[in-house]
Amino acid sequence: MKQLYIETYGCQMNFADSEIVASVLSATHSLCEKAQDADVIILNTCSIRENAEQKVLKRLEELHALQKKGKSRRIGLIGCMASRYKTQWMESRLVDFVAGPDAYRFLPEMLTDAEAPQVRTELSLDETYLGITPLRYQSNGISAFVPIMRGCNNFCTYCVVPYTRGRERSRNPESVLQEIRDLAEKGYKEITLLGQNVNSYRWENAYDFPRLMADAAGMDPKLRIRFTTSHPKDLSDGLLEVMAAYPNICKNIHLPAQSGSTEVLRRMNRKYTRESYLERVESIRRHLPDATISTDLISGFCGETEEDHRQTLSLMETARFDYAFMFKYSERSGTYAAKHLADDIPDEVKTARLEEVIALQRQLSYESHRKDIGKTFEILVEGPSKRSDAHLFGRNSQNKVIVFPKEDCQAGTYVHVKVIDCTTATLLGEKVQNNA
Ligand code: SAH
Ligand code: SF4
Ligand code: F3S
Repeated sequence: MKQLYIETYGCQMNFADSEIVASVLSATHSLCEKAQDADVIILNTCSIRENAEQKVLKRLEELHALQKKGKSRRIGLIGCMASRYKTQWMESRLVDFVAGPDAYRFLPEMLTDAEAPQVRTELSLDETYLGITPLRYQSNGISAFVPIMRGCNNFCTYCVVPYTRGRERSRNPESVLQEIRDLAEKGYKEITLLGQNVNSYRWENAYDFPRLMADAAGMDPKLRIRFTTSHPKDLSDGLLEVMAAYPNICKNIHLPAQSGSTEVLRRMNRKYTRESYLERVESIRRHLPDATISTDLISGFCGETEEDHRQTLSLMETARFDYAFMFKYSERSGTYAAKHLADDIPDEVKTARLEEVIALQRQLSYESHRKDIGKTFEILVEGPSKRSDAHLFGRNSQNKVIVFPKEDCQAGTYVHVKVIDCTTATLLGEKVQNNA
Protein backbone atom coordinates (compact mmCIF):
# COMPACT_ATOMS: atom_id res chain seq x y z
CA MET A 1 0.00 0.00 0.00
CA LYS A 2 1.17 3.51 -0.78
CA GLN A 3 1.17 6.05 2.03
CA LEU A 4 -1.22 9.00 1.75
CA TYR A 5 -1.09 12.22 3.74
CA ILE A 6 -4.00 14.70 3.56
CA GLU A 7 -3.92 18.24 4.93
CA THR A 8 -7.25 20.09 5.06
CA TYR A 9 -7.95 23.83 5.06
CA GLY A 10 -11.21 25.79 5.15
CA CYS A 11 -14.70 24.85 6.24
CA GLN A 12 -16.27 21.71 7.68
CA MET A 13 -17.41 20.81 4.20
CA ASN A 14 -13.77 20.44 3.21
CA PHE A 15 -13.02 18.31 6.27
CA ALA A 16 -15.95 16.07 5.31
CA ASP A 17 -14.66 15.89 1.72
CA SER A 18 -11.20 14.81 2.89
CA GLU A 19 -12.88 11.77 4.44
CA ILE A 20 -14.53 11.01 1.07
CA VAL A 21 -11.10 11.28 -0.57
CA ALA A 22 -9.53 8.96 2.02
CA SER A 23 -12.35 6.53 1.35
CA VAL A 24 -12.10 6.52 -2.48
CA LEU A 25 -8.34 5.94 -2.20
CA SER A 26 -8.49 3.35 0.59
CA ALA A 27 -8.05 0.34 -1.72
CA THR A 28 -4.59 1.48 -2.79
CA HIS A 29 -3.46 4.00 -0.15
CA SER A 30 -3.29 3.97 3.62
CA LEU A 31 -3.21 7.18 5.60
CA CYS A 32 -0.10 8.37 7.37
CA GLU A 33 0.35 11.20 9.84
CA LYS A 34 3.40 13.02 8.48
CA ALA A 35 4.08 14.54 5.07
CA GLN A 36 7.66 13.14 5.16
CA ASP A 37 6.37 9.56 5.26
CA ALA A 38 3.95 9.94 2.36
CA ASP A 39 4.11 8.78 -1.26
CA VAL A 40 1.18 11.05 -2.03
CA ILE A 41 0.47 14.38 -0.36
CA ILE A 42 -2.91 16.01 -0.87
CA LEU A 43 -3.81 19.55 0.16
CA ASN A 44 -7.56 20.11 0.35
CA THR A 45 -7.75 23.87 -0.01
CA CYS A 46 -9.90 26.94 0.67
CA SER A 47 -10.30 30.16 -1.33
CA ILE A 48 -12.71 32.08 0.86
CA ARG A 49 -10.26 34.89 1.72
CA GLU A 50 -6.88 35.84 0.32
CA ASN A 51 -5.01 34.76 3.45
CA ALA A 52 -6.54 31.26 3.18
CA GLU A 53 -4.97 30.87 -0.25
CA GLN A 54 -1.67 32.38 0.85
CA LYS A 55 -1.37 29.84 3.63
CA VAL A 56 -1.75 27.01 1.11
CA LEU A 57 0.77 28.51 -1.32
CA LYS A 58 3.34 28.82 1.45
CA ARG A 59 2.74 25.21 2.41
CA LEU A 60 3.06 24.08 -1.22
CA GLU A 61 6.47 25.74 -1.42
CA GLU A 62 7.56 24.00 1.77
CA LEU A 63 6.37 20.66 0.43
CA HIS A 64 8.09 21.31 -2.89
CA ALA A 65 11.38 21.72 -1.03
CA LEU A 66 10.75 18.47 0.83
CA GLN A 67 9.99 16.74 -2.44
CA LYS A 68 13.33 17.78 -3.93
CA LYS A 69 15.23 16.40 -0.95
CA GLY A 70 13.68 13.08 -0.06
CA LYS A 71 12.06 10.19 -1.89
CA SER A 72 9.90 10.91 -4.89
CA ARG A 73 6.34 11.74 -4.05
CA ARG A 74 3.36 13.27 -5.72
CA ILE A 75 1.66 16.41 -4.48
CA GLY A 76 -1.97 17.07 -5.28
CA LEU A 77 -4.10 20.20 -4.97
CA ILE A 78 -7.80 19.58 -4.38
CA GLY A 79 -10.77 21.59 -3.07
CA CYS A 80 -11.75 25.17 -3.82
CA MET A 81 -8.33 26.39 -5.03
CA ALA A 82 -8.33 23.57 -7.58
CA SER A 83 -11.50 25.04 -9.11
CA ARG A 84 -9.99 28.50 -9.22
CA TYR A 85 -6.46 27.83 -10.40
CA LYS A 86 -6.78 24.61 -12.42
CA THR A 87 -3.46 24.06 -14.29
CA GLN A 88 -1.73 27.14 -12.87
CA TRP A 89 0.91 25.37 -10.75
CA MET A 90 1.38 22.30 -12.95
CA GLU A 91 4.05 23.74 -15.22
CA SER A 92 6.27 24.84 -12.37
CA ARG A 93 5.77 21.34 -10.94
CA LEU A 94 4.60 22.88 -7.66
CA VAL A 95 1.77 20.36 -7.93
CA ASP A 96 1.54 17.06 -9.82
CA PHE A 97 -2.22 16.64 -9.97
CA VAL A 98 -5.32 18.78 -9.41
CA ALA A 99 -8.87 17.68 -8.55
CA GLY A 100 -11.83 20.00 -7.95
CA PRO A 101 -14.58 19.31 -5.36
CA ASP A 102 -16.68 17.23 -7.78
CA ALA A 103 -13.79 15.20 -9.21
CA TYR A 104 -12.80 13.00 -6.27
CA ARG A 105 -14.09 9.81 -7.88
CA PHE A 106 -11.35 10.25 -10.50
CA LEU A 107 -8.53 10.27 -7.92
CA PRO A 108 -7.83 6.51 -7.96
CA GLU A 109 -7.32 6.54 -11.71
CA MET A 110 -5.30 9.78 -11.55
CA LEU A 111 -2.97 8.21 -9.01
CA THR A 112 -2.54 4.79 -10.55
CA ASP A 113 -2.72 5.43 -14.29
CA ALA A 114 0.02 7.70 -15.64
CA GLU A 115 -1.97 8.16 -18.85
CA ALA A 116 -5.06 9.52 -17.06
CA PRO A 117 -5.68 13.28 -17.14
CA GLN A 118 -4.00 14.88 -14.13
CA VAL A 119 -6.19 17.96 -13.91
CA ARG A 120 -9.91 17.39 -13.33
CA THR A 121 -11.76 20.48 -12.24
CA GLU A 122 -15.12 20.23 -14.01
CA LEU A 123 -18.06 20.84 -11.69
CA SER A 124 -21.08 18.57 -11.68
CA LEU A 125 -24.80 19.24 -11.39
CA ASP A 126 -25.56 16.06 -9.48
CA GLU A 127 -22.45 14.61 -7.80
CA THR A 128 -23.16 14.00 -4.10
CA TYR A 129 -20.78 11.04 -3.63
CA LEU A 130 -23.67 8.68 -3.21
CA GLY A 131 -22.48 5.21 -2.21
CA ILE A 132 -19.16 6.36 -0.73
CA THR A 133 -18.85 5.88 3.00
CA PRO A 134 -16.47 8.50 4.41
CA LEU A 135 -13.37 7.14 6.15
CA ARG A 136 -13.70 9.02 9.42
CA TYR A 137 -10.00 9.40 10.15
CA GLN A 138 -10.26 12.86 11.78
CA SER A 139 -13.05 11.91 14.13
CA ASN A 140 -13.15 11.70 17.92
CA GLY A 141 -15.74 8.92 17.63
CA ILE A 142 -18.33 11.16 19.31
CA SER A 143 -19.33 13.89 16.83
CA ALA A 144 -19.59 13.52 13.07
CA PHE A 145 -20.35 15.85 10.18
CA VAL A 146 -22.73 14.68 7.49
CA PRO A 147 -23.02 16.78 4.31
CA ILE A 148 -26.62 16.92 3.10
CA MET A 149 -26.02 19.10 0.07
CA ARG A 150 -23.21 20.50 -2.06
CA GLY A 151 -22.62 23.78 -3.87
CA CYS A 152 -24.42 27.09 -3.54
CA ASN A 153 -26.79 29.11 -5.75
CA ASN A 154 -26.89 32.30 -3.74
CA PHE A 155 -24.10 34.29 -5.40
CA CYS A 156 -23.47 36.71 -2.56
CA THR A 157 -21.39 39.26 -4.43
CA TYR A 158 -18.24 38.84 -2.27
CA CYS A 159 -18.16 35.05 -2.28
CA VAL A 160 -16.25 32.46 -4.33
CA VAL A 161 -18.19 29.39 -3.20
CA PRO A 162 -20.75 29.29 -6.06
CA TYR A 163 -17.79 29.33 -8.48
CA THR A 164 -15.57 26.85 -6.66
CA ARG A 165 -18.27 24.36 -5.69
CA GLY A 166 -20.85 24.84 -8.39
CA ARG A 167 -24.62 24.55 -8.33
CA GLU A 168 -26.54 23.60 -5.26
CA ARG A 169 -27.74 20.00 -5.11
CA SER A 170 -29.30 18.01 -2.28
CA ARG A 171 -28.34 14.53 -1.30
CA ASN A 172 -30.82 11.67 -1.28
CA PRO A 173 -32.46 11.66 2.21
CA GLU A 174 -32.36 7.86 2.44
CA SER A 175 -28.59 7.90 2.13
CA VAL A 176 -28.32 10.74 4.66
CA LEU A 177 -30.52 8.91 7.19
CA GLN A 178 -28.70 5.61 6.60
CA GLU A 179 -25.37 7.31 7.25
CA ILE A 180 -26.70 8.79 10.50
CA ARG A 181 -28.10 5.41 11.56
CA ASP A 182 -24.72 3.75 10.91
CA LEU A 183 -22.91 6.45 12.90
CA ALA A 184 -25.32 6.02 15.82
CA GLU A 185 -24.70 2.27 15.76
CA LYS A 186 -20.96 2.90 15.88
CA GLY A 187 -21.51 4.92 19.07
CA TYR A 188 -21.52 8.48 17.73
CA LYS A 189 -23.57 10.84 19.90
CA GLU A 190 -23.77 14.02 17.86
CA ILE A 191 -24.37 14.59 14.16
CA THR A 192 -24.00 17.94 12.40
CA LEU A 193 -25.82 18.22 9.07
CA LEU A 194 -23.81 20.38 6.69
CA GLY A 195 -24.64 22.62 3.76
CA GLN A 196 -23.89 26.18 2.62
CA ASN A 197 -27.61 26.92 2.99
CA VAL A 198 -29.31 23.95 4.67
CA ASN A 199 -32.71 25.63 4.63
CA SER A 200 -32.94 25.18 0.90
CA TYR A 201 -32.39 21.42 1.19
CA ARG A 202 -35.04 19.72 -0.94
CA TRP A 203 -35.52 16.27 -2.42
CA GLU A 204 -38.10 15.67 -5.13
CA ASN A 205 -40.11 18.75 -4.16
CA ALA A 206 -41.95 17.27 -1.22
CA TYR A 207 -39.14 16.39 1.18
CA ASP A 208 -37.60 19.51 2.76
CA PHE A 209 -35.14 20.38 5.52
CA PRO A 210 -37.63 20.44 8.44
CA ARG A 211 -38.70 16.91 7.45
CA LEU A 212 -35.12 15.71 7.24
CA MET A 213 -34.45 17.20 10.69
CA ALA A 214 -37.54 15.54 12.16
CA ASP A 215 -36.57 12.16 10.67
CA ALA A 216 -32.97 12.48 11.86
CA ALA A 217 -33.97 13.58 15.36
CA GLY A 218 -36.71 10.95 15.64
CA MET A 219 -34.21 8.14 15.22
CA ASP A 220 -32.77 8.17 18.73
CA PRO A 221 -33.52 10.68 21.50
CA LYS A 222 -29.95 10.29 22.79
CA LEU A 223 -28.43 11.31 19.45
CA ARG A 224 -27.91 15.05 19.21
CA ILE A 225 -28.58 16.72 15.88
CA ARG A 226 -27.02 20.03 14.84
CA PHE A 227 -26.94 21.79 11.49
CA THR A 228 -25.10 24.59 9.76
CA THR A 229 -25.44 27.00 7.93
CA SER A 230 -28.82 28.75 7.84
CA HIS A 231 -29.27 31.54 5.33
CA PRO A 232 -31.46 34.22 6.98
CA LYS A 233 -33.62 34.60 3.87
CA ASP A 234 -34.69 30.94 4.10
CA LEU A 235 -34.95 30.22 7.84
CA SER A 236 -38.59 29.15 8.19
CA ASP A 237 -40.89 29.06 11.21
CA GLY A 238 -41.58 25.45 10.18
CA LEU A 239 -37.96 24.60 11.00
CA LEU A 240 -38.15 26.45 14.33
CA GLU A 241 -41.26 24.41 15.21
CA VAL A 242 -39.44 21.15 14.49
CA MET A 243 -36.49 22.37 16.57
CA ALA A 244 -38.81 23.14 19.47
CA ALA A 245 -40.50 19.73 19.23
CA TYR A 246 -37.31 17.63 19.56
CA PRO A 247 -35.16 18.08 22.68
CA ASN A 248 -32.24 16.37 20.90
CA ILE A 249 -32.11 19.01 18.15
CA CYS A 250 -29.51 21.36 19.57
CA LYS A 251 -30.64 24.86 20.36
CA ASN A 252 -28.08 26.86 18.44
CA ILE A 253 -28.68 28.60 15.15
CA HIS A 254 -25.80 29.86 13.07
CA LEU A 255 -27.36 32.74 11.15
CA PRO A 256 -24.71 34.75 9.28
CA ALA A 257 -25.77 38.41 9.19
CA GLN A 258 -22.66 39.73 7.34
CA SER A 259 -23.76 43.35 7.93
CA GLY A 260 -26.35 45.36 9.84
CA SER A 261 -26.94 47.83 7.04
CA THR A 262 -29.71 47.17 4.53
CA GLU A 263 -27.81 49.10 1.89
CA VAL A 264 -24.66 46.97 2.34
CA LEU A 265 -26.77 43.78 2.41
CA ARG A 266 -28.28 44.83 -0.90
CA ARG A 267 -24.83 45.29 -2.44
CA MET A 268 -23.87 41.90 -1.02
CA ASN A 269 -26.94 40.35 -2.71
CA ARG A 270 -28.00 38.79 0.60
CA LYS A 271 -31.72 39.15 -0.23
CA TYR A 272 -32.78 40.27 3.26
CA THR A 273 -32.84 43.60 5.06
CA ARG A 274 -31.74 44.61 8.53
CA GLU A 275 -35.42 44.54 9.55
CA SER A 276 -36.19 41.13 8.13
CA TYR A 277 -33.02 39.72 9.74
CA LEU A 278 -34.11 41.07 13.12
CA GLU A 279 -37.60 39.70 12.54
CA ARG A 280 -36.02 36.21 12.10
CA VAL A 281 -34.09 36.73 15.34
CA GLU A 282 -37.34 37.58 17.14
CA SER A 283 -39.01 34.51 15.73
CA ILE A 284 -36.14 32.35 17.00
CA ARG A 285 -36.47 33.92 20.45
CA ARG A 286 -40.25 33.29 20.41
CA HIS A 287 -40.03 29.65 19.34
CA LEU A 288 -36.82 28.75 21.17
CA PRO A 289 -36.28 30.98 24.21
CA ASP A 290 -33.18 28.99 25.25
CA ALA A 291 -31.44 29.04 21.87
CA THR A 292 -28.15 30.72 21.19
CA ILE A 293 -27.63 32.59 17.94
CA SER A 294 -24.23 32.83 16.32
CA THR A 295 -23.25 34.75 13.23
CA ASP A 296 -20.64 35.73 10.64
CA LEU A 297 -19.79 39.39 10.02
CA ILE A 298 -17.72 41.11 7.35
CA SER A 299 -16.11 44.50 8.02
CA GLY A 300 -15.14 46.93 5.27
CA PHE A 301 -17.21 45.65 2.34
CA CYS A 302 -17.28 47.86 -0.79
CA GLY A 303 -18.73 51.28 -0.04
CA GLU A 304 -19.32 50.60 3.67
CA THR A 305 -19.72 53.98 5.37
CA GLU A 306 -19.08 54.79 9.01
CA GLU A 307 -22.87 54.82 9.43
CA ASP A 308 -23.19 51.34 7.85
CA HIS A 309 -20.55 50.11 10.28
CA ARG A 310 -22.48 51.65 13.23
CA GLN A 311 -25.54 49.77 11.99
CA THR A 312 -23.61 46.51 12.19
CA LEU A 313 -22.63 47.29 15.78
CA SER A 314 -26.23 48.13 16.65
CA LEU A 315 -27.52 44.97 14.96
CA MET A 316 -25.09 42.98 17.11
CA GLU A 317 -26.45 44.63 20.26
CA THR A 318 -30.06 44.10 19.27
CA ALA A 319 -29.59 40.49 18.22
CA ARG A 320 -27.27 39.84 21.20
CA PHE A 321 -25.20 37.26 19.36
CA ASP A 322 -23.75 34.61 21.64
CA TYR A 323 -20.66 34.19 19.46
CA ALA A 324 -19.49 35.27 16.04
CA PHE A 325 -16.91 34.71 13.33
CA MET A 326 -15.69 38.09 12.17
CA PHE A 327 -13.72 38.89 9.02
CA LYS A 328 -12.21 41.73 7.08
CA TYR A 329 -13.57 41.92 3.55
CA SER A 330 -11.16 40.28 1.14
CA GLU A 331 -11.77 40.85 -2.56
CA ARG A 332 -11.87 37.62 -4.59
CA SER A 333 -11.27 37.73 -8.31
CA GLY A 334 -14.12 36.47 -10.45
CA THR A 335 -16.89 37.50 -8.03
CA TYR A 336 -19.50 40.14 -8.85
CA ALA A 337 -17.98 42.51 -6.27
CA ALA A 338 -14.50 42.17 -7.80
CA LYS A 339 -15.90 42.95 -11.24
CA HIS A 340 -18.40 45.70 -10.44
CA LEU A 341 -17.81 47.22 -6.99
CA ALA A 342 -14.76 49.16 -5.83
CA ASP A 343 -12.85 47.65 -2.88
CA ASP A 344 -12.62 51.20 -1.58
CA ILE A 345 -12.25 50.89 2.18
CA PRO A 346 -8.60 51.41 3.17
CA ASP A 347 -7.06 48.46 4.96
CA GLU A 348 -6.49 50.43 8.16
CA VAL A 349 -10.18 51.37 8.25
CA LYS A 350 -11.22 47.76 7.68
CA THR A 351 -8.92 46.72 10.52
CA ALA A 352 -10.18 49.42 12.89
CA ARG A 353 -13.83 48.49 12.20
CA LEU A 354 -13.12 44.80 12.57
CA GLU A 355 -11.45 45.48 15.92
CA GLU A 356 -14.50 47.38 17.11
CA VAL A 357 -16.75 44.52 16.03
CA ILE A 358 -14.52 41.99 17.82
CA ALA A 359 -14.41 44.08 21.00
CA LEU A 360 -18.19 44.40 21.07
CA GLN A 361 -18.66 40.69 20.44
CA ARG A 362 -16.26 39.86 23.25
CA GLN A 363 -18.48 41.86 25.59
CA LEU A 364 -21.68 40.23 24.24
CA SER A 365 -20.17 36.74 24.54
CA TYR A 366 -19.15 37.46 28.10
CA GLU A 367 -22.65 38.69 28.97
CA SER A 368 -24.17 35.64 27.31
CA HIS A 369 -21.93 33.42 29.43
CA ARG A 370 -22.57 35.32 32.66
CA LYS A 371 -26.30 34.72 32.27
CA ASP A 372 -25.61 30.98 32.50
CA ILE A 373 -23.99 31.11 35.94
CA GLY A 374 -26.13 29.07 38.32
CA LYS A 375 -27.84 27.10 35.52
CA THR A 376 -27.44 23.36 35.05
CA PHE A 377 -26.94 21.90 31.57
CA GLU A 378 -26.77 18.44 30.11
CA ILE A 379 -23.47 18.29 28.28
CA LEU A 380 -21.91 15.78 25.94
CA VAL A 381 -18.36 15.13 27.17
CA GLU A 382 -15.86 15.41 24.32
CA GLY A 383 -12.49 14.90 26.01
CA PRO A 384 -9.75 16.36 28.21
CA SER A 385 -9.63 20.14 28.56
CA LYS A 386 -6.78 21.76 26.63
CA ARG A 387 -5.55 23.68 29.64
CA SER A 388 -5.66 21.10 32.40
CA ASP A 389 -5.38 17.32 32.71
CA ALA A 390 -7.63 17.35 35.73
CA HIS A 391 -10.52 18.76 33.67
CA LEU A 392 -12.77 17.59 30.86
CA PHE A 393 -14.75 19.67 28.42
CA GLY A 394 -18.05 19.23 26.64
CA ARG A 395 -20.75 21.26 24.97
CA ASN A 396 -24.30 22.02 25.94
CA SER A 397 -27.18 22.03 23.49
CA GLN A 398 -26.53 25.75 22.91
CA ASN A 399 -23.02 24.87 21.65
CA LYS A 400 -21.23 26.54 24.55
CA VAL A 401 -18.08 24.87 25.82
CA ILE A 402 -18.13 23.90 29.51
CA VAL A 403 -14.99 22.85 31.39
CA PHE A 404 -15.37 20.87 34.62
CA PRO A 405 -13.32 18.65 36.98
CA LYS A 406 -12.80 15.17 35.58
CA GLU A 407 -13.91 12.94 38.48
CA ASP A 408 -15.12 9.66 36.95
CA CYS A 409 -16.66 11.00 33.72
CA GLN A 410 -15.96 9.51 30.30
CA ALA A 411 -15.77 11.11 26.87
CA GLY A 412 -18.89 10.32 24.84
CA THR A 413 -21.29 10.33 27.80
CA TYR A 414 -23.86 12.89 28.89
CA VAL A 415 -23.44 14.54 32.30
CA HIS A 416 -25.21 17.35 34.09
CA VAL A 417 -22.99 20.27 34.96
CA LYS A 418 -23.82 23.38 36.96
CA VAL A 419 -22.12 26.56 35.77
CA ILE A 420 -20.19 28.34 38.53
CA ASP A 421 -18.01 30.80 36.61
CA CYS A 422 -17.13 31.90 33.08
CA THR A 423 -14.70 33.63 30.73
CA THR A 424 -15.58 35.16 27.35
CA ALA A 425 -14.93 31.83 25.64
CA THR A 426 -15.83 29.15 28.19
CA LEU A 427 -18.15 28.22 31.01
CA LEU A 428 -16.65 26.62 34.11
CA GLY A 429 -18.82 24.14 35.94
CA GLU A 430 -19.11 21.30 38.38
CA LYS A 431 -20.81 17.98 37.93
CA VAL A 432 -24.15 17.46 39.63
CA GLN A 433 -25.94 14.13 40.13
CA ASN A 434 -27.59 13.13 36.85
CA ASN A 435 -30.93 12.64 38.56
CA ALA A 436 -30.76 15.99 40.33
N1 SAH B 1 -22.63 29.56 3.30
C1 SAH B 1 -22.35 30.24 4.45
C2 SAH B 1 -20.96 30.76 4.65
C3 SAH B 1 -19.81 30.27 3.89
S1 SAH B 1 -18.32 31.16 4.00
C4 SAH B 1 -23.27 31.41 4.51
O1 SAH B 1 -23.80 31.85 3.53
O2 SAH B 1 -23.42 31.95 5.55
C5 SAH B 1 -18.16 31.61 5.69
C6 SAH B 1 -18.09 33.06 5.92
O3 SAH B 1 -16.95 33.63 5.32
C7 SAH B 1 -19.23 33.88 5.33
O4 SAH B 1 -20.38 33.81 6.11
C8 SAH B 1 -18.65 35.26 5.30
O5 SAH B 1 -18.84 35.94 6.52
C9 SAH B 1 -17.16 35.02 5.13
N2 SAH B 1 -16.71 35.39 3.79
C10 SAH B 1 -17.08 34.86 2.61
N3 SAH B 1 -16.46 35.50 1.58
C11 SAH B 1 -15.68 36.46 2.14
C12 SAH B 1 -14.81 37.46 1.62
N4 SAH B 1 -14.63 37.60 0.30
N5 SAH B 1 -14.17 38.28 2.49
C13 SAH B 1 -14.36 38.15 3.82
N6 SAH B 1 -15.17 37.23 4.37
C14 SAH B 1 -15.83 36.38 3.55
FE1 SF4 C 1 -21.12 32.23 -0.20
FE2 SF4 C 1 -23.46 33.41 0.06
FE3 SF4 C 1 -23.35 30.89 -0.78
FE4 SF4 C 1 -22.77 31.47 1.73
S1 SF4 C 1 -24.76 31.73 0.76
S2 SF4 C 1 -21.60 30.13 0.40
S3 SF4 C 1 -21.77 33.45 1.58
S4 SF4 C 1 -22.58 32.67 -1.87
FE1 F3S D 1 -13.32 27.61 1.77
FE2 F3S D 1 -14.43 26.31 -0.18
FE3 F3S D 1 -15.29 25.98 2.27
S1 F3S D 1 -13.76 28.38 -0.26
S2 F3S D 1 -14.95 27.96 3.17
S3 F3S D 1 -13.30 25.44 1.53
S4 F3S D 1 -16.52 25.92 0.44
